[in-house]
Amino acid sequence: MLAAAGLAGADQNVSPNDRIRIATIGFGGMGMGDTTLAVSLPGVELVAVCDIYDGRLARARELHGDRVFTTRDYREVLARKDIDAVIIATPDHWHATLSIAAMEAGKDVYCEKPMVQSIADGHAVVAAQERTGRMFQVGSQYVTSAVYQKARDLVQSGAIGRLTMVDSWLDRNTAQGAWQYSIPPDASPATVDWDRFLGKAPKRPFEAIRLFRWRNYQDYGTGVAGDLFVHLLSGLHLVTGSKGPERIMATGGLRYWDDGRDVPDVMLAMLDYPKQASHPEFTMSMRVNLKSGVPDERFGFRFMGTDGVITTSMSSLLLEKAPPEREPGYSIGTFPKAVQEEFLREYRRKYPPDARPAAKIEPETFAPPKGYDAHREHHRVFYEAVRTRKKSVEDAVFGFRAAGPALLANASYYEKRMCRWDPDAMTVRG
Ligand SMILES: NC(=O)c1ccc[n+]([C@@H]2O[C@H](COP(=O)([O-])OP(=O)(O)OC[C@H]3O[C@@H](n4cnc5c(N)ncnc54)[C@H](O)[C@@H]3O)[C@@H](O)[C@H]2O)c1
Repeated sequence: MLAAAGLAGADQNVSPNDRIRIATIGFGGMGMGDTTLAVSLPGVELVAVCDIYDGRLARARELHGDRVFTTRDYREVLARKDIDAVIIATPDHWHATLSIAAMEAGKDVYCEKPMVQSIADGHAVVAAQERTGRMFQVGSQYVTSAVYQKARDLVQSGAIGRLTMVDSWLDRNTAQGAWQYSIPPDASPATVDWDRFLGKAPKRPFEAIRLFRWRNYQDYGTGVAGDLFVHLLSGLHLVTGSKGPERIMATGGLRYWDDGRDVPDVMLAMLDYPKQASHPEFTMSMRVNLKSGVPDERFGFRFMGTDGVITTSMSSLLLEKAPPEREPGYSIGTFPKAVQEEFLREYRRKYPPDARPAAKIEPETFAPPKGYDAHREHHRVFYEAVRTRKKSVEDAVFGFRAAGPALLANASYYEKRMCRWDPDAMTVRG
């Protein structure tokens, strides 16, 4: 076991052989998946699970045994001295409160993306990470993806020349992909701690759909921007080493899933990235379409540079380069004949005819090794940080630098205006 119980200071030293004892708060789809991956790693053990729906606590005991302590009240988890780290996988409106409370209680934290639901919460989580010295990692697993790491190495070594523009997209076309999640037939005020689900959200009577499809409501989620743009922003910031954009504009609408949700299902954002230490100025577009007409989920980037393009999917990368132009060519058809002839004489003096066959550069591809799982790897690096006390790959500052612009994409969409962001200070400008 890590942490002789209660020794939860920032200077806590963990021997590489120590067991890390964890708890999961929010045992829905992602909490369950995160927990399965965490306990599949050597030396990680599940001690407790917290959820406000009894069915999910029952499911945790089915999967992990009755010895796992289960509770509706996260404070009972944080008060336990035998827990070293917590996974936070609740709806977004609880992330900051739980992350801060957990770090204050001396726990290291793996918090699902988006790190926060508001800009103010972002500053509070960053401050808590600094104040407590706890290990904190956001759960945007693509940051640990071998594909994005390869893209980072290529972009930063100049393989595509100077970066000029980035396109990115996350398209889905299924009901589950559009968050039409199943509602358990036993959901009721008796099986759900409704007030604790609501937390700081506006009070309202029990309504199962708002809990089990919480992403569809601004009170609890962050819409497609917080849910999905965040993955694109995290990937982009890893690849480019960027701190973030300075201008954000988004548009979109509710085009298909008109099921009572108050968030769009189609969204397009444009972002201006200023010159920073690791990259020149560039422009980025992000698109999410939850009724896209494609059979499978498509998630990718096109990094465009002066000398080539890198296209990524979730599990592959393609590097394409155009050979440099030998001559600029000409467009002289509108000139009088004599002027054309004079132009051509001069042109051929400068660019003598070249009989060599046109140059061709074969595209290069990359795929991670078979069995590579970015999500499992993202957990592995978190527990490594817990053991070594070295900053995690996606700490609160990185997490906020992805969440902040995503939240401003929402502000831009709802308020129909351009938003300005200071990527260094992580503050809204004007
Ligand atoms: N990294 C990824 O690729 C990825 C994928 C899916 C979800 N997520 C993130 O994971 C989080 C959870 O999403 P999900 O799809 O698992 O949702 P979910 O609805 O399946 O699970 C959320 C769980 O939290 C519980 N809960 C709500 N309020 C709680 C509280 N105050 N205390 C304890 N439990 C509470 C709910 O009862 C539910 O079981 C979200 O922030 C989401 O953005 C990340």
